[in-house]
Amino acid sequence: MSNATLTVSKIRSGTVIDHIPSGKAIEVLRILGITGREGYRMAILMNVESRKLGRKDVIKIEGKFLDAKELNLIALVAPTATINIVEEFEVRKKFRVAVPDVVEEVLKCPNSTCITNKEREPVKSIHKKVRDDPLEFQCMYCGTIVRVG
Ligand code: CTP
Ligand code: ZN
Repeated sequence: MSNATLTVSKIRSGTVIDHIPSGKAIEVLRILGITGREGYRMAILMNVESRKLGRKDVIKIEGKFLDAKELNLIALVAPTATINIVEEFEVRKKFRVAVPDVVEEVLKCPNSTCITNKEREPVKSIHKKVRDDPLEFQCMYCGTIVRVG
């Protein structure tokens, strides 16, 4: 272990989001809607050493368990992320995030005249995945393509 390693405690129970591309932790929190004001004890590690990625970010949230739909949103900003569900200090489940086929209320349609961008009565945005590489979604209302990542 190098002197540059940052040591952060293990958590007793909660979620560890590991292998986030370096510098993306804040975007991951934003897409999950976590502001820090919810009161969870959490650690945000950024630009730390990783065997697999060179550098990576890690987020540890104690006492928080997200559902698969929420966790898969992470794939939009951090496709390499692994989710670790921790209970009594042990990793009980570990899985990769998967890009969702449909996302609601997350992506903004780039078409300013789209009904989802109307100021008075905005309709919630819905996008469906139309391409994996490069990752592209399509607005279900006006058909505009949104490139992600
Ligand atoms: N972790 C934690 N608290 C625990 C258990 C694990 O914060 N009680 C964290 C570890 O620090 C690590 C991640 O959860 O960041 C995954 O833990 P583990 O599976 O033990 O590590 P690795 O084997 O290195 O994971 P991988 O193979 O996914 O790289
Ligand atoms: Zn649209």
